[in-house]
Amino acid sequence: MGRLTPPEIKAMKNAGKKVVVMTAYDYPTARLADSAGVDVVLVGDSLGMVCLGYPDTVSVTMEEMLHHTAAAARGSQRALVVADMPFLSYQVSVEEAIRNAGRFLKEARADCVKVEGAKAVAKTVAALVEVGIPVMGHIGLTPQTATQLGGFKVQGRDDKAALALLKEAKALEAAGAFSIVIECVPQELATRISSEISIPTIGIGAGPGCDGQVLVLHDLVGLFDRFMPKFVKRYAEAGTLIREAIVKYKEEVEAGTFPGKEHVF
Ligand code: KIV
Repeated sequence: MGRLTPPEIKAMKNAGKKVVVMTAYDYPTARLADSAGVDVVLVGDSLGMVCLGYPDTVSVTMEEMLHHTAAAARGSQRALVVADMPFLSYQVSVEEAIRNAGRFLKEARADCVKVEGAKAVAKTVAALVEVGIPVMGHIGLTPQTATQLGGFKVQGRDDKAALALLKEAKALEAAGAFSIVIECVPQELATRISSEISIPTIGIGAGPGCDGQVLVLHDLVGLFDRFMPKFVKRYAEAGTLIREAIVKYKEEVEAGTFPGKEHVF
């Protein structure tokens, strides 16, 4: 069995099947997502915040994303692997965007890429699709340009902003994107967008009316504690569990009870 393809992800919308998306950043986490039946593994540039300790996603580089995407791709057998294009890897020129996106497919074995924005990237999305690189869009709160949006705030609250987001979604669909992440918008707007475009919407802080959902792995399992957005649901406290295990290990080493009889040659 190979990985799911963008057309198969698109077809899930018509079949009324929710698309389950989760971020993963390396071999073990992609394997966990894949074996749990997640449909799409997104190697998000949230990598910068949850794995690399940056304050935001702006500093993340192509080389960092390639390194982690390659590891995650090695861990995914069924889930489609999407590589998030880092800030300024696709905005400078269409040529540069194609070259960088191509590296994710050729060097890291991702299946497709994700880009943030709409109007400014529609031409690029069309060009990527034209050369055979499937693209996932990302609108609403776009973290790479959050400063310009006034911070990490809900987007599309008034009628004018809502209409602009609807237009952005339609522009990405017209440019050939196979799905769109919608981040931090009122649920009514996300539901409306989902009903007016033919490609799946993947919500994060956008309510249950989207065709699928995405969460950052470290938020979902409690491995990131700098802050927790309202839209996150914690399904486990893995951070606490890991810390408890480490404390126990430390105590046993200090007490001389590890290694035990069963661990020696
Ligand atoms: O980088 C990321 O993890 C993302 C998701 C939150 C959609 O873009």
